Amino acid sequence: MAKRIQFSTHGGPEVLAYVDYTPAEPGPGEVRVRNRAVGLNFIEIYVRSGLYPVPALPSGVGTEGAGEVESVGPGVSRFKPGDRVAYATGPLGAYAELHVLPADKLVLLPDTISFEQAAAVMLKGLTTQYLLRQTYRLQGGETVLFHAAAGGVGSLACQWARALGVQLIGTVGSAAKAEQARALGAWEVIDYSREDVAARVLALTDGRKCPVVYDSVGKDTWETSLDCVAPRGLLVSFGNASGPVTGVSLGTLSQKGSLYVTRPTLAHYAASAEQLQAMADELFGLIASGAIQVQIGQRYALADAGRAQQALAGRQTTGSTVLLP
Ligand SMILES: NC(=O)c1ccc[n+]([C@@H]2O[C@H](COP(=O)([O-])OP(=O)(O)OC[C@H]3O[C@@H](n4cnc5c(N)ncnc54)[C@H](OP(=O)(O)O)[C@@H]3O)[C@@H](O)[C@H]2O)c1
Repeated sequence: MAKRIQFSTHGGPEVLAYVDYTPAEPGPGEVRVRNRAVGLNFIEIYVRSGLYPVPALPSGVGTEGAGEVESVGPGVSRFKPGDRVAYATGPLGAYAELHVLPADKLVLLPDTISFEQAAAVMLKGLTTQYLLRQTYRLQGGETVLFHAAAGGVGSLACQWARALGVQLIGTVGSAAKAEQARALGAWEVIDYSREDVAARVLALTDGRKCPVVYDSVGKDTWETSLDCVAPRGLLVSFGNASGPVTGVSLGTLSQKGSLYVTRPTLAHYAASAEQLQAMADELFGLIASGAIQVQIGQRYALADAGRAQQALAGRQTTGSTVLLP
């Protein structure tokens, strides 16, 4: 027997139950991992609330964690019991002491990166990798807008942009978060709870706006984001923290400057074991060099996952949050 978090009906954090369960044995091509730290991500709030569908109920929660390989199924040669591993794109169920997932979802963890650090950066760091290096390949010298810059993904984006020589304008919801984003490398910070974001971006870019805008806030920032993209630039809408964007008018994209829009998700970038490893290598390299320092703002016991999600949804967290089994 082991412990995990599961939910049997969609709803608020109170539907998350900490239960005993019998973990599956790893099947062909699968690995069973004893989690030492689990990552908390906004996507788990969408899953719990019902915004994103789950295959079946009751359902596990979470796709990110780090720990030791406990056992491997038939046909697995890349991993052996005792290996230190991490994952970000596994099947639902990472909020657990033991998690079974396909071997091609795992990466080996360098000794220099702790389990907590890995659980804090795998999903958010790989997301930052594809956003800054693949969805739009930043080279250095660009000025970009990145919403929620003091959050989990945002804290990594500030540092990664600085390492690339990119001027990142970050938005945040409070003065304390503004200070944090600036300390992590944001070039300029806008408090979107009290400032006119589009006007500030126009002024900061001498009227040119940004070649790329990264928006994970969704409903509340969508219109503003469109006003911050330079003609023929790209709006990357990658989340819905304030609610999903609906009713998009294609004509608006033409009027605002022949804009491009994409709605990407990590699974399509880390689609193979090779892609996953290459993205992780770039992330781990930046951590090893000191260019990125892992920001663990909060730690909770796994049993308190509901309280942790409540803090994340309530905008009370900064950096990453880890759950400890
Ligand atoms: N598509 C992908 O591949 C992918 C992968 C990972 C994450 N994401 C998305 O990236 C975003 C960041 O994820 P994260 O886990 O690192 O979370 P996070 O940024 O640590 O937390 C979300 C932040 O969004 C801001 N926010 C603005 N309006 C909000 C509202 N109405 N309710 C709650 N928060 C609001 C808050 O910062 P302020 O207080 O500063 O406003 C809050 O701290 C999420 O939208 C997530 O879904 C997408």
